[in-house]
Amino acid sequence: MSQRIFDNRLRPAVELWVAVILLGIAAVLILQPGQWSPLMPGIAVWAALGMVLLALYRFWQGWHILQYRANLKRLPHYVLDADEIPLSRHKLFLGKGFQWTQTHSQRLVEARSPEGRVWIQPGKLYQWARAMELRYEHRPRMQWLTNLTRSSRWWNTLKPLPPVGGDPALHGVGVEDERDTWIDLGDRVAHTLVLGTTRVGKTRLAELLVTQDIRRGEIVVVFDPKGDTELLARMWAECKRAGRLDQFHIFHLGFPEISERYNPVGSFGRVTEVASRIAGQLPGSGNSATFKEFAWRFTNIVANALVALGRRPDYSAIARYVTNIEPLMMEYYAFWFEREGIENWREQVNTIAQNIDPKSLTMALKSRDFKAIAYTQFAKTRDLYDPVADGLRSAFEYDKTYFDKLTASLLPLLEKLTTGKSGELLAPHYGDRNDKRPILDWMEVIRQRGVVYVGLDALSDAEVAGAVGNSMFADLTSIAGQLYKHGDNLGLPELAGHKRAKIAIHADEFNELVGNEFIPLLNKAGGSGVQVTAYTQTASDIEAGIGEKPKAGQIQGNLNTLIMLRVKNEETAAVLTDQLAKVRIYTKTAQSAATDSSEPGSGVEFTSSNSDRITEAETDILTPADLVQLPKGQAFALLDGGKLFKLRLPLAGADPLLPKDMQAIIRWVRTERLGEDS
Ligand SMILES: Nc1ncnc2c1ncn2[C@@H]1O[C@H](COP(=O)(O)OP(=O)(O)O)[C@@H](O)[C@H]1O
Ligand SMILES: [Mg+2]
Repeated sequence: MSQRIFDNRLRPAVELWVAVILLGIAAVLILQPGQWSPLMPGIAVWAALGMVLLALYRFWQGWHILQYRANLKRLPHYVLDADEIPLSRHKLFLGKGFQWTQTHSQRLVEARSPEGRVWIQPGKLYQWARAMELRYEHRPRMQWLTNLTRSSRWWNTLKPLPPVGGDPALHGVGVEDERDTWIDLGDRVAHTLVLGTTRVGKTRLAELLVTQDIRRGEIVVVFDPKGDTELLARMWAECKRAGRLDQFHIFHLGFPEISERYNPVGSFGRVTEVASRIAGQLPGSGNSATFKEFAWRFTNIVANALVALGRRPDYSAIARYVTNIEPLMMEYYAFWFEREGIENWREQVNTIAQNIDPKSLTMALKSRDFKAIAYTQFAKTRDLYDPVADGLRSAFEYDKTYFDKLTASLLPLLEKLTTGKSGELLAPHYGDRNDKRPILDWMEVIRQRGVVYVGLDALSDAEVAGAVGNSMFADLTSIAGQLYKHGDNLGLPELAGHKRAKIAIHADEFNELVGNEFIPLLNKAGGSGVQVTAYTQTASDIEAGIGEKPKAGQIQGNLNTLIMLRVKNEETAAVLTDQLAKVRIYTKTAQSAATDSSEPGSGVEFTSSNSDRITEAETDILTPADLVQLPKGQAFALLDGGKLFKLRLPLAGADPLLPKDMQAIIRWVRTERLGEDS
């Protein structure tokens, strides 16, 4: 069997010795040609030249081995400054990477074998340097020494390993094949899922992708449940660089004073969506399911009445009427009677009200305003019917125990959605001229080819974040639907050249947001140019967020490109590894044996044997354990129709346009957007 099946680079770099010896011989040939080649000294020079060439070749081979070994321990630093990030109209840049093949699995097995490990473990000196740094940490007079061993200069071979953890060999086995890795923009329409545990580089990857989308001139919507200031700052800087600051929108629940306002239930295709967007946030399993259904129905009644009255639903109106439905009911009945052209209804209702006998009322109605009761009785005597009015009446007649159900479920949520500064943000008064904060309108965003940052501050309130995020998904879905139907006719901007602008949606910490509104967005998105990139920690997050396994599966099935950073559990890793084929891996076992001879007179004292045995085994090209050991900022990805790539993502370098902190952005909004004096 050919030795080529083994990579065999974890061994002494013997090529270097050969190179040294060859150079030595060449030196002797040149210095003493007559001695070594007495007949034809001229040949000696040529022979020496040949040896020098061979020595160089061997030297190159040996160097290669040392380099390979070094890369298994520590990868070269990978930082891209803002002006170094490449951009293409047809492709999306992901970083450096190589296609992972059997060769790399083979090298990894060799690197992890006990014989291989010896060559890539940090040496004694390295360990001494680290121990010494600890020991002298508080001794000012020894600082020069610790500074020296910590220095990250190239000459310092003892410098600490980068704080990225994991097993650098995973990328080291392929560094020599590494090149810039791109995916086709066409593939993004099939949506992308990025999985990775906390603090391993998901948000930094989002920054890299968002940067390119902004520069490419696309419509970009970034959902950031945690409200990561760095991401916002990066987007601001990129908009500035691309000359798109006038298209930049900031919605941030954590900074209401500079945020645009948004009515999460203000636009919809069907009125029932209003109730779904609110009740959808309530827990729906077990006992809560009935509460949820009830809350939905109640909200829907209110929303229907508001819309019929020509008023735009918002959280505060819904909260007001859910707790006290009488005024809305009377308003609607009055409107309805007028619409029906009933004469003198006011007098007749008044007469009924005056004559109501409290004893004839049900318990639920006893505490109600008699005037309101009179409205319903009037409609009944006249045999009038209207579905909205009927809904209101049934809500009005519910007894107190029903109301308690609401108190347990819907009211706390509505209270959260309507109180404080974020409450004002979410129920904008369209007529309020004093409030300079713009009102976010998705259709307008799309027309002007906007870039939107949505900070949801989920750490302070996950429910509000979920409600707002999901309403935005729903709004985007309905717009995607319209785009799908009408195509270019909606007056969408054209990109310089030919193509229609795409809508790139990035959803960081996706599990905080995912809800039922999200599934149709993924389904519909294709034809409308919507492309979603979702970033989350584990596969089960999605299920926990949406509450149902089949639906979670549907979401995952709709996210076709998979990028996986370090993950914590094997179940998540299996999302990737389950899709991979098996490969053949070769291992070598050395055997040696000696046997004593039992025949005293034979002259044979013992026999011995040595052999190398090659074993071939079929194993996984990648195991879940590999994904658990990835260093920060590294990933495996299934790209380009299921090809496995190993990726190294760049760390963001210098960017002169980057705002220093949140204050800088707040100042910008204040002066440029709200017209305040600084
Ligand atoms: N490409 C990278 N190379 C090296 N380190 C990285 C890289 N990306 C992220 N990191 C490190 O990981 C930290 C957390 O990154 P972040 O993107 O915020 O993680 P996540 O969003 O997954 O929680 C960063 O502050 C950085 O130190
Ligand atoms: Mg993050």
